[in-house]
Amino acid sequence: MMTDYILSASILSADFSNLADQIHQCEQGGIDWIHVDVMDGHFVPNITMGPFIVETCRRITVLPLDVHLMIETPEKYIDDFAKAGATGLTVHPEGNPNIHRTLQHIRALNCRPGIAINPGTSPESIEYLLPLVDMVLVMSVNPGFSGQSFIPEAVDKIAVVKSLSAKWKLPIDIQVDGGISPDTIAIPRKAGANVFVSATAIFKNSAGIVAGIHTLREALK
Ligand code: DX5
Ligand code: ZN
Repeated sequence: MMTDYILSASILSADFSNLADQIHQCEQGGIDWIHVDVMDGHFVPNITMGPFIVETCRRITVLPLDVHLMIETPEKYIDDFAKAGATGLTVHPEGNPNIHRTLQHIRALNCRPGIAINPGTSPESIEYLLPLVDMVLVMSVNPGFSGQSFIPEAVDKIAVVKSLSAKWKLPIDIQVDGGISPDTIAIPRKAGANVFVSATAIFKNSAGIVAGIHTLREALK
């Protein structure tokens, strides 16, 4: 489906006993990207997946793999994720003194560099990183778990990122991640987001994955 926005399905809420089938259902529903939430138990209080899962997804689908690294010292692992088949690698600046170099390295690996900011991080703090990235991810929950409620303050931050990207004349995607549901998805869109991540609303929809995707798209009409 041709739209002016992108829907990215976070497999964090997928049934991993049937991962290939779950991703194929996302394809049937017309999903644009697959979002892989990587957590190390240090940057966030949860441990999830590594390059092995990205490589598994790469064998299942040709869709872009949107890999969100919620890990300390991501610079140690980006080569592995790139080799595993990541399309985009999004890293956090919080607690990372090497973020500028890391983003350059992601670009050199021919992946799309993205920068993600937690709810407590101001968008102005990443202004001088914007020329290095293809995407800014504004977290609308505290990272670590799916199924949390949308934090409304993210909306103002999206608007700030939008105006900074206009100021620098940079065609940056603005992604929002966390608590995205049919009830919330239109709000960040109005503020300027064009990439929407969802785990629960897609994989836990009682009518199924295809219906979950359809319902989110309907809410954007
Ligand atoms: C949170 C992750 C999100 C999460 C979204 O740390 O980055 O991608 O899986 O889950 P929902 O859509 O359930 O809020
Ligand atoms: Zn994520």
